[in-house]
Amino acid sequence: MSLNLCIIYGSTREGRLGIRFAKYLQNEFGKRGNNCFLADPNNLKLDTLKNRYVDYDKGKAPKVLEELHNEFTKSDAFIMVSGEYNHFVPPALINILDYFYDEYRRKPSAVTTYSVSPFGGVRASNPLRSFLSQLGMPPINAMLHAPFIGKHFNEEGERIEGDLEERKKEFEFFASELEWYGIALKEARNKS
Ligand SMILES: Cc1cc2nc3c(=O)[nH]c(=O)nc-3n(C[C@H](O)[C@H](O)[C@H](O)COP(=O)(O)O)c2cc1C
Repeated sequence: MSLNLCIIYGSTREGRLGIRFAKYLQNEFGKRGNNCFLADPNNLKLDTLKNRYVDYDKGKAPKVLEELHNEFTKSDAFIMVSGEYNHFVPPALINILDYFYDEYRRKPSAVTTYSVSPFGGVRASNPLRSFLSQLGMPPINAMLHAPFIGKHFNEEGERIEGDLEERKKEFEFFASELEWYGIALKEARNKS
């Protein structure tokens, strides 16, 4: 079954590197037959939250929020691409997520992190997992952590260094776990 996946990336930094990992995930999930939408804060250009989508009268929300609402509503699962800023989740990622709520309901989420350091941004994953639970999209236990982001990935989103065979297996496991939950919860939502 082909799923609609939404990949949400959280950096607006000049010279940002995590976009490479976001592209990698979009490409690899696409190769497995999924439709992948990339929510990129540099394209969305959302203000720091003033009103949530739900706070607008019907048809009165800014176009970008209407479009994002439609994308999120049709998504079967959400994949976070989080850097680690001072051991925490980057603000642009939190900002995108806070605009919505019902759109996430009863859908799985998955955490991926990255950094320039050997830790791969892992310290941002626990606060992010709590946040995702509160948003109603429970995070699956499988995660991906990408260290040395600028060295291991090129600008096209290809993994070019760092034990390629092992990382491929890791991705396949991660993807199959998320797809399992994505399909299971989609079927359950359709029945309820
Ligand atoms: C404000 C800020 C805080 C950072 N804090 C951490 C950190 O806690 N741990 C870490 O491994 N790298 C940290 N870094 C380095 C990032 O891993 C690196 O800059 C990475 O490229 C950021 O992702 P981005 O390029 O997608 O914005 C920090 C970078 C910034 C800009």
